[in-house]
Amino acid sequence: MKRYGAVILAAGKGTRMKSNCCKVLHPVAGRPMLAYVLDAVRTLSLDRIGVVIGHQAEDVMRCFDDGDLNFVKQDPQLGTGHAVKQCYELFQGFDGHVLIMCGDTPLVKPETLDGFIRYHDENSSLLSVLTTNLENPFGYGRILRDCAGNVAKIVEEKDACDPEKAIKEINTGIYIVECSLLFRLLDRLKAENAQKEYYLTDVVSWANREGVTVHGCRTEDSCVVMGVNSRSDVAAANGVVWNRIRWELMSEGTTLLDPSSFYGDFGITVGPDTVIYPNVMITGNSSIGRDCVIEPGCFINDSRIGDRVRVLLGSKLDDVEISEDVSIGPMAHLRPKAKIGKNARIGNFVEVKNTTVGDRTKAAHLTYLGDSQIGDDVNIGCGTITCNYDGKKKHRTIIENRCFVGSDVQFVAPVEIGSGSVIGAGSTITKDVPPNSLAVSRSKQKTFPLRLGQGLAPKNEDR
Ligand code: UD1
Ligand code: MG
Repeated sequence: MKRYGAVILAAGKGTRMKSNCCKVLHPVAGRPMLAYVLDAVRTLSLDRIGVVIGHQAEDVMRCFDDGDLNFVKQDPQLGTGHAVKQCYELFQGFDGHVLIMCGDTPLVKPETLDGFIRYHDENSSLLSVLTTNLENPFGYGRILRDCAGNVAKIVEEKDACDPEKAIKEINTGIYIVECSLLFRLLDRLKAENAQKEYYLTDVVSWANREGVTVHGCRTEDSCVVMGVNSRSDVAAANGVVWNRIRWELMSEGTTLLDPSSFYGDFGITVGPDTVIYPNVMITGNSSIGRDCVIEPGCFINDSRIGDRVRVLLGSKLDDVEISEDVSIGPMAHLRPKAKIGKNARIGNFVEVKNTTVGDRTKAAHLTYLGDSQIGDDVNIGCGTITCNYDGKKKHRTIIENRCFVGSDVQFVAPVEIGSGSVIGAGSTITKDVPPNSLAVSRSKQKTFPLRLGQGLAPKNEDR
């Protein structure tokens, strides 16, 4: 069995993305596209993996440094051939073959690479190129085969003449080359082309000149080798990965009422028998329990949701923790560090931020709970506001177990309400309330008779 190493090219800026963020860090279904390439490569038994970095090198390293990768810097970035050449030292004395691929190929599957390595092995090849046929080959290098069917040359789009542009077989940017041959050929590259770059693809014609046969392995699954170069390519890759995630979830027992309008990031989990309505997006590090219902128009990010939770129409949850049997929404906004206890109810137009809500507690309508700690079995009346901000600092509101808060109450924080207390409707609470007390702070009602014909509003002299 031959030994294999890998080089992944990730140094380019990705000019066609027109972005400040380097291309390989652009997310596909919520995850940098390079992560998918590394996943696929890591499934192979490789002796060493080199990742060529350049543009935003520190950011790329920070994202992916798991100790098994050798980061090699390319500065300046003079083309794909020049990029691989930077790995010369890493592969010095390496008695094996090197798989080379681009970090902008996020749809690649482990079985594609595995099959390609087997092909290379079975043909006792020194240089193999993975190719595919595309109906629209625009932008890719075209494969020129010789009369024996081997690869004679790869011509880049920008250097191709019209008959070459008409070729539908393209270079996927995935190659396997015997190590010493690779670096010998790289030494011969010249930047004499439309882009004035050292093209890796030119190793093919240099190999031919040395009498080395270049094998072209054509894969039928052209979708998985798509290179991402532009925003519309990112959109297409997103579409493919989202679809994969939909099918995975459904095969694990989640109901998606309209799979095409469900968007789930890579890595989210959803339990069996959970029903997700149309137009739902679940992103980041989110997990949803079993037997939940997520109604239309909900957006859930970085949140952990227990079993049998109902997230009703149009709710947004971001970085929150929801226990079992909770009902949220419709139109609720749960912001970072909201923690909702078992059997609780957060109703319509309720906003919760940096607040713990206890078990069986209800805030059913039109309420803001911020920087608060609400105990178990508390009733928060409609229109309650925790006034947490004094213009300079945020303050906490504590409402202990079994309190009953009437409608339209403002808690001017910092303030604490002892357990079992009742707050009268319409009160503005500025002082702590001891346990088992009734607190009311509102002016007494005055009632005046209206004389017939005076209209609805009392005149001034009546007040
Ligand atoms: C490349 C191939 C093309 C192939 C296509 C497949 C060359 C010259 N062309 O074109 O034949 O059909 O991929 O997707 O190789 N990179 C570096 N350093 C550099 C330049 C690029 O590390 O100096 C990296 C990029 O970060 C990227 C990869 O190499 O991950 C490919 O570069 P890109 O500019 O996307 O090449 P393509 O035009 O797609
Ligand atoms: Mg590319």
